[in-house]
Amino acid sequence: MRDKNRIRVLVTGGAGFLGSHLCETLVREGCDVLCADNFYTGTKDNIVPLLDNPYFELLRHDITFPLYVEVDEIYNLACPASPIHYQNDPVQTTKVNVHGSINMLGLAKRVKAKILQASTSEVYGNPNTHPQTETYWGNVNPIGPRACYDEGKRCAETLFFDYYRQHRLAIKVARIFNTYGPHMHPNDGRVISNFILQALRGQPLTIYGRGSQTRSFCYVDDMVEGLYRLMQTQDGVTGPVNLGNPKEYSILEIAQKILELTGSKSKIVFEALPQDDPERRQPDITLAREVLGWSPRVTLEEGLPKTIDYFDNLLRSRR
Ligand SMILES: NC(=O)c1ccc[n+]([C@@H]2O[C@H](COP(=O)([O-])OP(=O)(O)OC[C@H]3O[C@@H](n4cnc5c(N)ncnc54)[C@H](O)[C@@H]3O)[C@@H](O)[C@H]2O)c1
Repeated sequence: MRDKNRIRVLVTGGAGFLGSHLCETLVREGCDVLCADNFYTGTKDNIVPLLDNPYFELLRHDITFPLYVEVDEIYNLACPASPIHYQNDPVQTTKVNVHGSINMLGLAKRVKAKILQASTSEVYGNPNTHPQTETYWGNVNPIGPRACYDEGKRCAETLFFDYYRQHRLAIKVARIFNTYGPHMHPNDGRVISNFILQALRGQPLTIYGRGSQTRSFCYVDDMVEGLYRLMQTQDGVTGPVNLGNPKEYSILEIAQKILELTGSKSKIVFEALPQDDPERRQPDITLAREVLGWSPRVTLEEGLPKTIDYFDNLLRSRR
């Protein structure tokens, strides 16, 4: 007999960076958590502390195939998130966003579960308004190398809203901006993990372009709190809601901060900017403040040392 006081939650992509932190939070909040992951970019290492917990279950599953389980809530996070990984098999990236979303929406419809989609700031493409509000429709190249991800996520949002309109599903769409913290994939080529690893290894820090392009970075604990709060909102609150940290830093500033915090003697080198790399990206989080009472609390000065510690331990464990 199931414990009716425990909400049954499915987290797809739960062995990944954000998913593993989300699973930890949900277990801590008293949920019965099912993590479904095909380990494409995620790893069991991220969820080792949860494996002995009776309220945590791990299922190796690729969400491009249907899944039949009984749950009350679904967080749909499965999708490689960094360009290196999502461009490695672009057709699979589109599939996970389109077929995967259809499968998870179909499941939510069948079991009447609430479902949250981990969308992305990439739906705004290379934006020509700053900062980006949820009403901005984006500036996306549909045939470029990033399209499998950007357009895949845009199509997933379309599917979520069509299931909402057509089938009255309780949907929640979060547009996640750059997030960082422990459990980030070490080889995903993202700016923070790249710089930290290069600094810890004493290698030069590579900046693409002149380093004047800006990014905003949200610490993972803040992001998980935002996702959790969005799921708790009343039916009818669908989003999309931007979740991210509005504080902007230039890439050069980040590199300098990481050199300072690691005490590394690495040099900074400049290389050509990849195609379709956005110049600026900054969330407008007015809606998240209003609807979720949420705003990020962890500063870069607090979050970076924890992330550096994580990578430092990872490198030591591999020596
Ligand atoms: N981290 C960020 O800064 C960021 C920004 C915007 C959006 N997002 C979104 O948040 C979600 C989680 O991102 P992340 O940073 O944790 O990435 P991640 O790559 O660490 O996690 C994705 C997880 O999904 C799993 N996965 C991939 N394809 C799958 C499939 N077909 N079936 C089952 N599992 C599959 C991977 O193995 C991995 O565990 C993604 O949907 C991503 O697009 C993340």
